[in-house]
Amino acid sequence: IANAPQSIKSVAKMLASNKYKKIVVLTGAGVSCNAGIPDFRTPGTGLYDNLQKYNLPFPEAVFDLGFYARNPDPFVQLASELWPGLKHSPTITHSFIALLEQKGMLLRTYTQNIDMLDVLAGVSEERMIECHGHFRTASCTVCSKPFDGEECKRIIVEENRAPSCLSCKGHVKPDIVFFGEGLPDRFHRLVKKDVRDADLLIVMGTSLMVSPVCQIPDMVRRDCPRILFNRELVGTFCRDGVKSRRKSYSNKERDIFHAGDCDESVRLLCSLLDWDEELDELNSS
Ligand code: OAD
Ligand code: ZN
Repeated sequence: IANAPQSIKSVAKMLASNKYKKIVVLTGAGVSCNAGIPDFRTPGTGLYDNLQKYNLPFPEAVFDLGFYARNPDPFVQLASELWPGLKHSPTITHSFIALLEQKGMLLRTYTQNIDMLDVLAGVSEERMIECHGHFRTASCTVCSKPFDGEECKRIIVEENRAPSCLSCKGHVKPDIVFFGEGLPDRFHRLVKKDVRDADLLIVMGTSLMVSPVCQIPDMVRRDCPRILFNRELVGTFCRDGVKSRRKSYSNKERDIFHAGDCDESVRLLCSLLDWDEELDELNSS
């Protein structure tokens, strides 16, 4: 612990200061990799590098609304194989978010993931936004009419076909957000206020490549410190005072980047804070 990197020490100092009560957390697929769910864009292991058998014009087509209208089969096949169930357990990073809530420090966690691991870790529905939707309910991609979620699952998983809408015969899909669709109302309802109120932003396990979620780090107030626990530098975060090349709101006074596995970063951070027992308890319950 004594030779913990300065970046983690700085974060520990901030969290120990009792100054931050409205933390906004932003996560992506990287926080679930240690649960055994691959991310999208890591070369080699990411989902988008492993879709050859679907013969797609481009990898993201599997989650594209226009493509689904013409050819729902690749998504149906992928969803039947990867339908989120109860086979994965929350990681240390998910439990850390639940711990922040327990300590009254969490304003909101914005997840781009559809694996429901934040809920399993104990984060309350109120504190969580599933920005890219979820598999629990379904609706028609043409007329938006709701379709029974269980029935959608049965048809996709057992019959391997896209369910048809009962009123317009359009293709039904689970209510996960596809490219070409808007985000859930709850996201739009809360994001503007949350970025104004945030006193600290913690970003973990995301490439910050998909809009509008990737804009959140540039929407928080200019005086809101930003922490990034990720394998790589992403978005407009800056490292060692060097600004990222993208249009940048970064500033070396407020950004802290720690490169590496987010579970390892969180573990180290929690041991500096003497939160490790609480963290382990949450993670094993
Ligand atoms: P990506 O796969 O684009 O990015 C994952 C990020 O996490 C990368 O920067 C990795 O380096 C990093 N990473 C992986 N494992 C990690 C670990 N153990 N610790 C720390 N960092 C790690 O996934 P997302 O950013 O979530 O949307 O992708 C965003 C959206 O693109 C997804 O929600 C999905 C996808 O298309 C839709 O389909 C609408
Ligand atoms: Zn319809």
